[in-house]
Amino acid sequence: MTASQALIFPEQTKSGQWIAVGTVAELFDQGDCVGVQVNGRKVGLFKVDDQLFAVDDICTHGNALLSDGDLEGYEIECPLHAGAFDLRNGKALCSPLVKNTRCHSVKVEGDGVFVQLASGEA
Ligand code: FES
Repeated sequence: MTASQALIFPEQTKSGQWIAVGTVAELFDQGDCVGVQVNGRKVGLFKVDDQLFAVDDICTHGNALLSDGDLEGYEIECPLHAGAFDLRNGKALCSPLVKNTRCHSVKVEGDGVFVQLASGEA
């Protein structure tokens, strides 16, 4: 099982709802990048120091999962062509990327991690 397939919690939810995706310990036991599915959407979760960030897991440039990429500070580098995004705002930082990624809200309550999907374009 890859990190991207580690946790899948298919739930039918209303837009704007916080969705439980697991605990901090479960999600990040293999590293600081993990892919989950939230209401059918692939979301990459990233831990930088003690802060969590959630963005669309599929790169805006091609068919690669950012959760399989390299995390350095607040930058996640795509494993396929090395494009990088800023996790704080989803901005595409270098070529070949031409499109930002979508950021989702993420919070920790107790030891549970919850994601609220953003709507619209990145
Ligand atoms: S698929 Fe991500 S940079 Fe090309």
